[in-house]
Amino acid sequence: MDNTHSFHIEDLGKPKFKSPLQLSTVRGDNIFNFVSESDKLVFDISLDQYNKCLSDGEEPQCLEKAGPRQNIFFDPKEATAAIVTCGGLCPGINNVIRGVVMGLHYFYGIKRIIGIPYGYEGLNPEIGHGFVELTPDKVKDIHQFGGTFLGSSRGGQDVGVMVDTLEANGVNMLFAIGGDGTLKGVNAIGEEIEKRGAKISVVGIPKTIDNDIDLIDESFGFETAFDVASPIIRDAHNEAAGAYNGISIVKLMGRDSGFIAASAALAMPVVNFVLIPEMDFQLEGELGFLGVLQKRLKRKKHAVIVVAEGAGQQLFQGQERIKDASGNIKHADIGLFLKEKIGSYFKDANIPVTIKYIDPSYIVRSAPANSRDSVYCSRLAYHAVHGAMAGKTKFVACKVNNKFVYIPISEVTKKRKKINLESEFWFSVLQSTGQPFLLK
Ligand code: F6P
Repeated sequence: MDNTHSFHIEDLGKPKFKSPLQLSTVRGDNIFNFVSESDKLVFDISLDQYNKCLSDGEEPQCLEKAGPRQNIFFDPKEATAAIVTCGGLCPGINNVIRGVVMGLHYFYGIKRIIGIPYGYEGLNPEIGHGFVELTPDKVKDIHQFGGTFLGSSRGGQDVGVMVDTLEANGVNMLFAIGGDGTLKGVNAIGEEIEKRGAKISVVGIPKTIDNDIDLIDESFGFETAFDVASPIIRDAHNEAAGAYNGISIVKLMGRDSGFIAASAALAMPVVNFVLIPEMDFQLEGELGFLGVLQKRLKRKKHAVIVVAEGAGQQLFQGQERIKDASGNIKHADIGLFLKEKIGSYFKDANIPVTIKYIDPSYIVRSAPANSRDSVYCSRLAYHAVHGAMAGKTKFVACKVNNKFVYIPISEVTKKRKKINLESEFWFSVLQSTGQPFLLK
C-alpha cells in the first residue's frame, strides 16, 4: 500500500497585506504567536516511521499547522466571503457557520458574507434560491439549533456555472461545509478557478456523522451523534430486558463505515451485537449471527443489537442498487430485514421472542452539537477563516494527531475511512459486547 501523501497546500499568491490581528511573534509575552509557514507537524508519529526516516535519511511527511498568518492575501476592506452547506445534516453545522461569520467579521473586518442556500443548488442562478446576507446579528443564536441555517441539498451543479456565480458576485473565499462529495465538488470548483486565473480561495470543513473522512482524527458532529444515540440504546436495553427473550434492534446511520454504531455501543455498554459495514457476517449456520443470538438468549433471556445502516449488504445480492443525488449507493434496509429474519428464525424454532425495532437515524443526525463538538466546530471555523485569509486554497481545516492542521482536499478524498477490524478500537467493541470475532 502506498502511504505517501502530498501535503503541500496550494495558495493564490504572495500574501501582501498585514494581518489586522494583534498577535505576537515572540514567545514568552503571553500573547498568541502568528503561525509561520515553517510551522509543521509530523504526520506519522509512530516509532517505526521515525526509525525509517532516520535510517533512510529522509524528512518525515509533515502537515501545515493551522492558524493565523502574519501576512494575508485578501484586503479585508474589499473581500467578500461565501458559505455553503451540502449533503446530509450533521450536528454542529450551525456552529461552524456562526464561527466562520464571526471570525471573518470580528477578526478580519470582512463586511460582506454571503450565505448560499440549499447546497450547491444555491450557486446555480437558474434554480433561483437567491442568497442570504450573513451578519453576526443574523447568526448569533444559530448554534443552539440542529440542522443547517442555510439549508442543504445533495448532488453537484455544473462547475462552470458555479464559478461564474462566484465571479459575478465578487466572492473571494468560498467555505464549503460537507462530506466527501462536497469536498470533491469544492476541489473541482478550485481547479476551475485556477484555470480561469481567478483569485478565489476554496476551503472545505469536513462534515459527516459517519466519520468516514480519511486521515483526519474525527469529523465534527460525530461525537454528538453517538452521544444522542447512547440513551436510545439504554432505553432499547430496558425494552429488551423487560420481556422474556426480548430483543431490541437499534439501527443507526453509517453508510459504509460503522463508527457511530461502534462508538455508541461502547458509550452505552449494554449492547450484545454490533453489526457494521466493514464486517462480513452470515445469518445461518452454527457460527452465524442467528445461532449465536439464540445461544445468548438461552443464557440471558434478552439481547440488544445495534446495526449500522450499511451492514450486511452482502445479504441482499441480486437486488437492484439505486444511487442518491450525491452518487452514493442507497443501501437496502438491513434493520427491517434483520427484524424479519430474527422473527421467522425463532418462530421456526418454536422459541417465543419479543422484538422491538428502533430507528432513530434522523433524530441523531439533526440534533444540536454537544459541548465538545461545539468547541471543535468553533475552532475548525476559526482555522478555516485564517487559512482562507492567507490565500490558501483547496484545503480542509481539520485535526490530525490532536492538532489543528490544513490538508489538501485531494488527500482526504482519496478513499473513505473505515473501521479496521484488527484495530484496538474494534477489539474494544468486541470486548464490550462479548460477540465473537467472526459471525460466520
Ligand atoms: O451524511 C451521511 C448520512 O447521514 C449517511 O449516514 C446516510 O446514509 C445518509 O447520510 C442518508 O442521508 P439522506 O437520507 O439525507 O440521503
